[in-house]
Amino acid sequence: MPLVSMRQLLDEAAKGGYGVGAFNVNNMEQIQAIMEAARETKSPVIVQASRGARSYSQDRFLYHLMLAATELYPEIPTVLHLDHGNSVETCKSAIEMGFTSVMMDGSLMPDGKTPSTFEYNVKATREVVEIAHAKGVTVEGEIGCLGGIEDGHGAGLDGLSHLTDPDQAVEFVKFTGLDALAIAIGTSHGAYKFTKKPTGETLKMERLMEIHRRLPHVHLVMHGSSSVPKDLQDIINQYGGKLKPTWGVPVEEIQLGIRNGVRKINVDTDNRLAITGAIRKVFFEKPEEFDPRSYLKPAREAMKKVVALRMTQFGQAGHAGDYAPVSLEEMAHRYHEPVAV
Ligand code: 13P
Repeated sequence: MPLVSMRQLLDEAAKGGYGVGAFNVNNMEQIQAIMEAARETKSPVIVQASRGARSYSQDRFLYHLMLAATELYPEIPTVLHLDHGNSVETCKSAIEMGFTSVMMDGSLMPDGKTPSTFEYNVKATREVVEIAHAKGVTVEGEIGCLGGIEDGHGAGLDGLSHLTDPDQAVEFVKFTGLDALAIAIGTSHGAYKFTKKPTGETLKMERLMEIHRRLPHVHLVMHGSSSVPKDLQDIINQYGGKLKPTWGVPVEEIQLGIRNGVRKINVDTDNRLAITGAIRKVFFEKPEEFDPRSYLKPAREAMKKVVALRMTQFGQAGHAGDYAPVSLEEMAHRYHEPVAV
């Protein structure tokens, strides 16, 4: 089946009361790991690429690898999503290339660092919604700012400085007409999120629940949702790495979010940790090896394990065959007739 609309996946997830992981990719092995995990767990998937990933892979490589994924895994509904588009132009170029979903992150200015104004955010997101929906493409927006800047994107703050204001979230959805809303509840990108295990209090789960109560039909998105498991940190450090002690977002808190309107959960760091640990292990144990496959294969397998586990924990496992995919043309038509969506 061709790449499908993220809106359809999230609508189905809302009906079924589950969440869908959105996993970041830069290369073939990461795409293969996600698709294998999806097949093993029978999960619909969201594969996402940031601006950094698009430039690393000269984005046409990435796009064609995704086409290969749809050919090789025809039973898996697969979305190709742009993570953190920084401008209308970036989103437009992704849509033109064939991404079936885009994030317009107008919570920051186009430099990807400076918090923007509400007015700027509404204007940029609304513009992307008009362009995207005419083609049946899904739009995610963000209100409030995440912390961290490890991946070159983020306000560089601690995650608690720009939490989402529920009143603003309601206005934002009304003015933009977006499909999915990323909210800031205290998470940040990267491995160094918390210096001790966070509670629902640290993570402002109450605020998430309030936003869901006020916007019960909007698909909420949790960014910065890697759990940064200790066993993955330990493998890296055991084989010569130097990670400092750190905590991520506990899976139980994500599951609480899923019971309260979270439909898309962004995970990148956990997979990076799994890949790096597996590669370090081979380098350490078999210093005579020089065939890249000797370490890329275990790296791919390690990422697949993490992704399959998250798919099960988020509840998307078993749902790949629930529905027939709707074409982007049909989605465009539905956006035109809002009642039908
Ligand atoms: P992590 O760094 O927690 O994996 O978050 C990834 C993310 O939110 C990508 O948008």
